[in-house]
Amino acid sequence: MPQLVFYRKYRPQSFAEVINQKNTIKTLANALKQNQISHAYLFAGPRGTGKTSVARLMAKALNCENRKTNEFEPCNKCGSCQEINEGRAIDLIEIDAASNRGIEDIRALRENVKFPPLKSKYKIFIIDEAHQLTKDAFNALLKTLEEPPPYIIFILATTEPEKLPATILSRVERYDFKKLALDDIIGRLKYICHQENIKFEEEALRLIALYSEGGLRDAESLLGQISIVTNQNITKESIETLVGAINLEKIKRFIDILNKKDKVKAIEYINKIYDDGYDLEIFNKEVLDYLRKLLLLKISPGLAEILERELTQEELTVLFKQAQNWETNVLERLLRKLTEVQWQLKTSPVPTLPLELFISEELI
Ligand SMILES: Nc1ncnc2c1ncn2[C@@H]1O[C@H](COP(=O)(O)OP(=O)(O)O)[C@@H](O)[C@H]1O
Ligand SMILES: [Mg+2]
Ligand SMILES: [Zn+2]
Repeated sequence: MPQLVFYRKYRPQSFAEVINQKNTIKTLANALKQNQISHAYLFAGPRGTGKTSVARLMAKALNCENRKTNEFEPCNKCGSCQEINEGRAIDLIEIDAASNRGIEDIRALRENVKFPPLKSKYKIFIIDEAHQLTKDAFNALLKTLEEPPPYIIFILATTEPEKLPATILSRVERYDFKKLALDDIIGRLKYICHQENIKFEEEALRLIALYSEGGLRDAESLLGQISIVTNQNITKESIETLVGAINLEKIKRFIDILNKKDKVKAIEYINKIYDDGYDLEIFNKEVLDYLRKLLLLKISPGLAEILERELTQEELTVLFKQAQNWETNVLERLLRKLTEVQWQLKTSPVPTLPLELFISEELI
């Protein structure tokens, strides 16, 4: 299933191919040209914006056997470049901090740092999701960052830089990766469609780009899935069907938060939905629809017949299960209030306020 790995197949192999991170690339390229290398970099920014890709490009450029002074692009031909492209370079160590969080892992890393690279100029550590390291691990890392041997380079990548300790932040050269612009994502999706002989409607690609919220990886994954489902012929309608499913997931999550009466989470969730560009009126209407279905099932499982027209058997099973967690009178109260909220949302001077008030007053 080659389509599923679009995001890997289309990983930029040169700095020139990286979209939308102009300032970062320019500064890194200049540093490479002048051989002004830092021993610790931090790449911060949302997922799917190129952090890992650029980290690997840096590693490639730094260890490229053909790169001359005043050049910055890796050649992609020498032994070192090829080993990195094929993921078998021994002097490039990639650590996923989400699964190697502990002190032992960092202790192993500290041992490893003591030995010079085996084949290349630099030994390079890429630590992904660096904010997930434990406190002890950070302390151990800090010791290495204080006096790194000249052949060692760390590249930390994170989606949540604010979770990194100040002591680490002060020792790294930081680059902020930005979300990609809609048109850039659309452009890249078009390029992939042409390469892969996928037929598409313009509007469909725009919808994919919208729903991926500035991250190219998600856009490419979605494109891959849709192209399989639609047999390489992507229509606007096919996207709407799939994206509808994504929306339902978002609603379900909110319903669960309401059920747990978690005011803080609920308010955070509403604000995230709003910040992500969703229309709160549509969101609220879908929440209403969902709670209504739960209420009908509460009144009588027999009423499922009414719902069967709109739902698949699997969706009904999920609904039945969720309905068990609710009291009928709570559903009635929330539904009545959310119906009022629906009207208030049209005129509220602060868009999120009607839902926030609802959460504050009713989640008791
Ligand atoms: N700025 C970008 N330019 C070109 N492709 C990108 C960019 N950002 C992400 N991609 C695409 O998304 C995939 C995943 O990107 P990655 O670098 O792993 O993102 P991150 O590490 O920021 O989550 C890449 O393989 C590439 O196909
Ligand atoms: Mg990454
Ligand atoms: Zn090379």
